[in-house]
Amino acid sequence: MAGHDSVTHTASLVPRSHLPTVLRIEERHSLAVRWMHWINFPLLIIMIWSGLMIYWADSVDLNVLEHRVYRVGIGDFTLFRFFPDWFYRIFRLNNHFTRGLSFHALVMWPFIVNGVAYVLYLAISGEWRRIVPSASDFAQLARTVLDDLLNRETSATGKTYNGAQRIAYTLLLIVGAASVISGIAIWKPTSLPLATAIMGGYRAARLIHFWTTIAFCAFICIHLVQGIRAGWGRLQSIVTGFETVAEPGSSKSRKSESAYGD
Ligand code: HEM
Repeated sequence: MAGHDSVTHTASLVPRSHLPTVLRIEERHSLAVRWMHWINFPLLIIMIWSGLMIYWADSVDLNVLEHRVYRVGIGDFTLFRFFPDWFYRIFRLNNHFTRGLSFHALVMWPFIVNGVAYVLYLAISGEWRRIVPSASDFAQLARTVLDDLLNRETSATGKTYNGAQRIAYTLLLIVGAASVISGIAIWKPTSLPLATAIMGGYRAARLIHFWTTIAFCAFICIHLVQGIRAGWGRLQSIVTGFETVAEPGSSKSRKSESAYGD
């Protein structure tokens, strides 16, 4: 007994950095999620790129009323217009209206199929539980975001994602659905009037389609920053499905590196 005590005592005197690192391999993402995640990425980029070409043709004439929808300003005063001419020029998005239409009309199909497959997969496999936030996720949202901004250990709980991630991923599904339905409403306003009605009319559909795209862009920027901050191991996990985790108590163990993990 005395011997055991002395071993425990000695172990507590050894600095953590001198303890061996015990690594464990954990499955983090299923094959289906990884495939759908990486199929979605290029498709979404092409949809945004081709959509901007279409939008250029619409907003090129400053005197057309519609372009006023997409601006920041008060009354007739416009502070910022989406998008300034230099934006189209730099990204070579001007004068490619028909190319934009062709790509948009082609890629929307695999984009929709992949999105529907993802939702069905979540529903059938039960993985929706990892994504859908609980009431406490909303209550702790401010704290989780603050923890992340200050690079503190996240206070969120859960198997894979923290509350902020669950809220973001669920919102993304809603944004995706709104983007697709509003797109259909703009494409077939008379032959598919239900989509237009759901969106609150043609003009509202255009507005929703535009702002859901901005939301996608904002998500991608934050998602990439979070991914980089979470580290190489986490980024690898969305490719390989597995993550290497240090056992608690061993030298490299850390409870969490960012709001990307629990
Ligand atoms: C280069 C681009 C991207 C990288 C490097 C990336 C990286 C990652 C990583 C590392 C995860 C896992 C996070 C974790 O395990 O905690 C993840 C999950 C996820 N990402 Fe991305 N991502 C990219 C693009 C996108 C895009 C464009 C979208 C959609 C707009 C997206 C939506 C999601 C969703 C919904 C999840 C959760 C999937 C699930 O578990 O069902 N990602 N991503």
